[in-house]
Amino acid sequence: MAILVLGGAGYIGSHTVYELIDAGRDVVVADNLLTGFKQAVHPKARFYQLDIRDKGALDTLFQAEHIEGVIHFAASSQVGESMSDPLKYYDNNLYGTMVLLKSMVEHGVDKIVFSSTAATYGEPERVPILESDKTVPTNCYGNTKLSMEQMMGWVSKAHGLRYVALRYFNAAGAHISGAIGEAHNPETHLIPIILQVPNGQRDHVGIYGDDYPTPDGTCIRDYIHVTDLAQAHILALDYLIKGGENNVFNLGNGVGFSVKEVIDVARSVTGHPIPAEVSPRRAGDPAQLIASSAKAVEVLGWQPKYNDLSTIISTAWKWHQAHPNGYGEG
Ligand code: UFG
Repeated sequence: MAILVLGGAGYIGSHTVYELIDAGRDVVVADNLLTGFKQAVHPKARFYQLDIRDKGALDTLFQAEHIEGVIHFAASSQVGESMSDPLKYYDNNLYGTMVLLKSMVEHGVDKIVFSSTAATYGEPERVPILESDKTVPTNCYGNTKLSMEQMMGWVSKAHGLRYVALRYFNAAGAHISGAIGEAHNPETHLIPIILQVPNGQRDHVGIYGDDYPTPDGTCIRDYIHVTDLAQAHILALDYLIKGGENNVFNLGNGVGFSVKEVIDVARSVTGHPIPAEVSPRRAGDPAQLIASSAKAVEVLGWQPKYNDLSTIISTAWKWHQAHPNGYGEG
């Protein structure tokens, strides 16, 4: 039986497909290629170009393939865009997931692992954040992800489907081989933007605010290597295959780094001075997001391997140096 990876041509999806294939699993990838890249799809995966809102295409796939479980990454994921174009997020994330679940229920596919986010918590009450802490998203993206979790809960009660929601903190880094990495257009994430400076693509990095209530005034985040995230998806799927109940897990390293600290680590990894300039705050940024991933460690047996920030940035640097234009002209 095969594992269906929706959004398997995207950043975290493509890394998960690489880990699944390495583990000897049979993998089917579906992606609409609006933000994903065909070149990121592992050559051993069977690829379908489809949009999850197209129920006919999904039905055809479920009829053609023998799918044991679904890993669902297919969603829009930019916080800023979700505030300026919320209906895109309701359409792609919520409506898309509704169509997917409908097709899964009709075809008797009853296990799903999916991408949730630290943005479901909103401004945290305390750090490290526990899965049981209150969820009051401060942006539309986080709201659609929380609603996806709730949708799965109700569908589970009615139809017996089981789910695991993985709430990622800040995904970063690239495949250790250098074969695949992070490529967004436009790029909004801190580490790839920092690395554009030593790559000669920008002359400085902007720090979005240095007046937050943190030791150096810049925002603190919990950076987790994309391959460690990928491994957690496999563990979560196996947990469901073994009969595990619906569950929600945070995925982070449990250690926070400020924007200034991340820039410093990138300076030492690249040997470049990386000039930085403070610019105004970006709307909607919480001061501090740090995960407690104790539950994933205990219940799933998850053990992040690349948990040192300089290793995370080194793998990203290897990818961006070799692919300054992502999957474009290289
Ligand atoms: N930042 C800068 N300069 C930049 C880019 C980012 O100072 O040029 C700062 C941001 O203000 C933030 C930190 O660097 O404080 C990290 O920003 P990212 O955009 O890399 O990541 P976010 O923490 O904003 O977002 C990530 C995921 C989202 C997810 C969110 C959960 O990318 O999908 O975590 O809060 F929703």
